[in-house]
Order: sequence, then C-alpha cells, then structure tokens
Amino acid sequence: MPTITIQPSGKTVDAAEGTKLLAAIIASGEKIDSKCEGNAKCGTCHIYIQEGRKGVSRIAREESEKLDTLVGIGSKSRLACQVVVGTEPVTIELLGFNSGL
Ligand code: FES
Repeated sequence: MPTITIQPSGKTVDAAEGTKLLAAIIASGEKIDSKCEGNAKCGTCHIYIQEGRKGVSRIAREESEKLDTLVGIGSKSRLACQVVVGTEPVTIELLGFNSGL
C-alpha cells in the first residue's frame, strides 16, 4: 500500500491502490477544499504532486480543461479529486485555501 506524504506538514497516510488522492488527504486529517465534491468543476482541490507523478492516473480531458482555468498552474498541478493512487509512493504539496482560484 503506497504512502502519501503531504507537504508542508510532512504528514503521511497509507492509501490503497485505486484510492482517490482527495480521499487520502481527507483521511489524513489535513484540510483541503472540495467544493464540487470531486467532479473536476471547482478547482479548489488543486495541489502539486512533487514526487510520484508517473505512478498515479493520467490527466483526463475534464481535469485538464479545469486546470487551464486556474491560476498558479504548473507541470506538477493536479486536481486531487481526479488523481487515482497507483502502487508507488506519492509526495504532494497542499497549496492553501483557494490556491487555484
Ligand atoms: S473537488 Fe472540485 S475540482 Fe476537485
């Protein structure tokens, strides 16, 4: 079961393969917004994946289109609600309240 490391706190949580990253973050006790309840519509769950990008699900069109509307987007940007954990450990960075808006 891969470990998800959440920066900047450094908290870790184990997530079974197939788990949505958003669910893993919430399970860890970290705060993250998810105003559209995981439908790639709001952008409030914008995070950076610092390590392990190749081990998670690829960006689908819906996620890509939403990311294009947000500010502060980079090559590490993902919507946590759209990322499915694979078998590799992942390190993410939370970007703070409404970072992607
Ligand atoms: S929860 Fe709205 S885009 Fe992820």
